[in-house]
Amino acid sequence: MNTKIIPYGRQNITQEDIDSVIEALLSDYLTQGPRIKEFEDQFAKYVGSKYAVAVANGTAALHLCALALDVKQGEKVITTPITFAASANCVRYCGGEVVFSDIDPSTFLLDIDKVRKLLEASPAGTYKGIIPVDFAGRAVDLEAYRKLADQYGLWIIEDACHAPGGYFVDSRNTIQKCGNGIYADLAIFSFHPVKHIACGEGGMITTNDHALYNKLLALRTHGITKNEMEYSNSIDFACGQKSETEQYPGWYMEMQTLGFNYRITDFQAALGISQLQRASEGQYKRNAIALNYATAFKDLPFIKGQSGVVEGHAYHLYIIEVEDRLGLYNHLKENNVFAQIHYIPCHLMPYYKQFGWKEGDMPKAEDYYKKCISLPMYPTLTAEEQKFIIDKIILFYNG
Ligand SMILES: Cc1ncc(COP(=O)(O)O)c(C=O)c1O
Repeated sequence: MNTKIIPYGRQNITQEDIDSVIEALLSDYLTQGPRIKEFEDQFAKYVGSKYAVAVANGTAALHLCALALDVKQGEKVITTPITFAASANCVRYCGGEVVFSDIDPSTFLLDIDKVRKLLEASPAGTYKGIIPVDFAGRAVDLEAYRKLADQYGLWIIEDACHAPGGYFVDSRNTIQKCGNGIYADLAIFSFHPVKHIACGEGGMITTNDHALYNKLLALRTHGITKNEMEYSNSIDFACGQKSETEQYPGWYMEMQTLGFNYRITDFQAALGISQLQRASEGQYKRNAIALNYATAFKDLPFIKGQSGVVEGHAYHLYIIEVEDRLGLYNHLKENNVFAQIHYIPCHLMPYYKQFGWKEGDMPKAEDYYKKCISLPMYPTLTAEEQKFIIDKIILFYNG
């Protein structure tokens, strides 16, 4: 019996991480300090984008993206049902309508052919954007999505929460890292503890679009700008008296649009910077764990589908598809292995059912949900622990 609990995912906090946070706590800044820009710059470099905006969490990142792209009441946006609800909810925050489209059962990702059919079947202008998700860490082919989006004048938000470090290879044989801003207008990441980089809570938006970048910076802090080139009130008004110098005073700022407080703190950014130094090493370990699973399950008839070994997969999750998933889940739990299910199809959440979504609407996603189970996957999972998990799975089916 394994006495140590093995979760499906967990953070890895080192002494360097702790030291970095303590240093930040002892500095002059708790909130908007220098570490935030440093984290943004280093993260942008890591994923290959021009700009990055650090925010409070991945959900806030999605909300700000939907606001920056001006999603309005009733506007339709397409996404996958196999994702965390936040990918869809950001559209609802702005009053837009979420249109789910089914997955490709061989990749577990949003099926582009089905998205194309949806677009073809509606008058031009029906849809405003697409939110593909690099689900489980598998990179979406954004080159193909960009082509389709351009045909219909749509924007793309890449939900890359599962895939910092992931990539796909485009038609010019070039590696395109998740979140690099080449094909998507905006990309978002989460720094929740089970993700590749942990900040406690935290998120990041990446883009190559300067105008969107500026909008995001303002929206993150109440819609306030401190750029005097953008001010609309007069210098005399700002000074509260006739100005001698024709300069805006030091305290002045303008709230020009309705924004939020979606800032991250400086000590969370300190943790993020420290974690980022080990991101490549962590990815290497995730790949090795994926290879072990894939090799062990290769010829087992009770494994109906699996994440497998896929180039550029960031392996946030390692998913297998099995019959009697409930039995396997409980059997693993009895052995202190806490697998997880990703995800309950979003269109069948009671909140989304009220808009008319029902069982049978997304047959591939619903079939996937009946069989999927995410096995432990994190860089500090040991070889013995992984062997234990694999042995328990084989024991459950072979007795
Ligand atoms: C695919 C996906 N999108 C968005 C989010 C939201 O991120 P956060 O939990 O940081 O708000 C998550 C987090 O679990 C996620 O997995």
